[in-house]
Amino acid sequence: MRKGKFITLEGGEGSGKSTCMAFIKAWLEENNIEYIVTREPGGTPLAEEIRSLILSHREEKMHDETELLLMFAARSQHINEKIKPAIEAGKWVISDRFVDSSYVYQGAARGGDLAQIDQLAAWVLQGCKPDRTLLFDVPVDVGLSRVAKRAQSDRLDDEPVAFHQMVRDAFLQRVKTNDHYALINAAQSIERVNRDVKDQLEHLKASF
Ligand code: TMP
Repeated sequence: MRKGKFITLEGGEGSGKSTCMAFIKAWLEENNIEYIVTREPGGTPLAEEIRSLILSHREEKMHDETELLLMFAARSQHINEKIKPAIEAGKWVISDRFVDSSYVYQGAARGGDLAQIDQLAAWVLQGCKPDRTLLFDVPVDVGLSRVAKRAQSDRLDDEPVAFHQMVRDAFLQRVKTNDHYALINAAQSIERVNRDVKDQLEHLKASF
């Protein structure tokens, strides 16, 4: 059985990656490709419970190390119970966020130790790495104005603008040094964003 492809969507808050998921699903269906869509943190019932712990507002401050470890605890469950079995079964897996978010949010923006994140990634991922990461890039003010229109914001949405700027800068830096990335200009019209995403999907299909 040929293994499926693993595609992740990354970007700052309000970058439009979740909106683009509907277009990606339609493309996969048109092309008769078996797939699952999922997200991080979360993706399984247990990992979704961890997501609620991570993102909810509470009085007690969440220590940065706790946040990092909870991300990887959720990821371990997600990889073993959902991602790996689907890839082994030949399905394409499309995940709204994955380990690149940990390098950017817990590493660059929170000032976490990147070597420690490398160690956690080596332990938890066990070689489960994306074939392609689509980075939805949008200026921070544009992204945050989209988030402001939502009914609710979570603990990370509510970080200061400087935090979100560090997130954007770190993603753009990672594009330069990691060849699994494709940069998508998410400030364009939805039609153009979808066209650029489609080009990436066609390319991956051709290599399948
Ligand atoms: P979402 O708003 O795109 O659903 O993502 C949830 C939040 O979790 C978002 O603010 C980014 C954050 N996050 C991390 O900080 N580290 C991670 O490893 C992941 C997967 C998400």
